[in-house]
Amino acid sequence: MRFSLILPLFLLAASGSALLAGCEGQPYRQGQILYQNFCANCHMDDGSGLQGNIPPLAGSDFLRQNQELIPCIIRYGQEGPIVVNGKTYNNPMAAIPQLSDIEITNIINYINHSWGNDFGYVQFETARQVLKGCEKNRAR
Ligand code: HEC
Repeated sequence: MRFSLILPLFLLAASGSALLAGCEGQPYRQGQILYQNFCANCHMDDGSGLQGNIPPLAGSDFLRQNQELIPCIIRYGQEGPIVVNGKTYNNPMAAIPQLSDIEITNIINYINHSWGNDFGYVQFETARQVLKGCEKNRAR
């Protein structure tokens, strides 16, 4: 009796983890679709930006070195001069307030792993905390 219960439970657990593993690729896919809808018109499909006006994301040292700023930049926009790969850009990026915490996480994981970028994986919880923090900073 016991044994006959354990086997189905084991199978259930195994298929559960297979399902989870199957979902691993999904965030990048959702991130890619969101990128195409919300970012590509400025930063281009290939992340190259627009010469002199819009900084690249592909190979961007700014993106690599300022991971903790990226969720806030996406939600609240970015203004003032910033230097990307040795070039100064100074055009405002509009806020994109309609993206949820999870959507922002997925976009970051997409841009961190596209076009040869290898800038690491951001956990949803980390992005959520960062977003809470930038809300506080803005409220002051
Ligand atoms: C309307 C055009 C526009 C859209 C849409 C846009 N950006 Fe930007 N983005 C800019 C500009 C312009 C800057 C430079 C801002 C400055 O000069 O301070 C920038 C800066 C950045 C930076 C920091 C600099 C760098 O190149 O590493 C990141 C990261 C970034 N954007 C990501 C995104 C993501 C992700 C999206 C979509 C969710 C997005 N942007 C949508 C125009 C845009």
